[in-house]
Amino acid sequence: MVTDSTLADVAVIGGSGFYSFLPDPTEHVVETPYGEPSAPIGVAEVAGRRVAFLPRHGRHHDHPPHAIPYRANAWALRSLGVRQVLAPCAVGGLRDTVAPGDLVVPDQLVDRTHRRIGSFVESGAVHLPFADPYCPGVSAALAGADADVRAGGTMVVVEGPRFSTRAESRHYADQGWDLINMTGAPEAALAREMGQCYAPLALVTDMDAGAESGDGVGQEEVFALFRQNLERLTGLLTGAIEALPAPEGCTCSTWADGVDLTYEVPGA
Ligand code: ADE
Repeated sequence: MVTDSTLADVAVIGGSGFYSFLPDPTEHVVETPYGEPSAPIGVAEVAGRRVAFLPRHGRHHDHPPHAIPYRANAWALRSLGVRQVLAPCAVGGLRDTVAPGDLVVPDQLVDRTHRRIGSFVESGAVHLPFADPYCPGVSAALAGADADVRAGGTMVVVEGPRFSTRAESRHYADQGWDLINMTGAPEAALAREMGQCYAPLALVTDMDAGAESGDGVGQEEVFALFRQNLERLTGLLTGAIEALPAPEGCTCSTWADGVDLTYEVPGA
């Protein structure tokens, strides 16, 4: 529900190389019980919606993937009123079914991170339903925003900040997984704990080490490809925001009905 106190009801969390999205935003410095979010949060109107933008790594890529304040980010967005989150991110391709420049809305996630706090739950019995980690409504809006966007696929999220060895990369591909990334977890689960509808928009920036015979992945190619695609991403996200369904009634939030949440969901 959008109320007068809702500053934003939709958010875009920008990935590597994606540090601004909104025209002339109003900035909000938000304090949270989990510390500061990655950056001040900009808010402006896009496609008739009040949209928040938060650069996941900070404005100057201050936070590496394993040190992003994921809980502060999710809490801060929810405290502004955000119920739907579009999450562009850079990914490597694990198999030749994808190529650099492809845009994919994955439908499955494998969490291979191991030193991040992945939940707001610190006491009590709260077990998040997560079989389908992404919101069907937000995913459909992203996938429908451009004929080039592909729907489906599994994204494995690794701890980083290093890229994978060839053996690790081949192992992930052998599992049948398609994409690899360093930030998709715990972001998706935390959004659901906050009752938010969340879906990623993965831009393939490189082929991972096991899928190519060259020197392996370097960060320059990741950043360069993301930069080249910024205009395309901006247009696509704007189209997706226009097409978003209403969040009310979505299982991304109704899972918590009747559950005794042991953490605060701001504004709920
Ligand atoms: N993000 C972009 N490319 C990546 C890769 N090859 N591995 C992990 N994260 C990535």
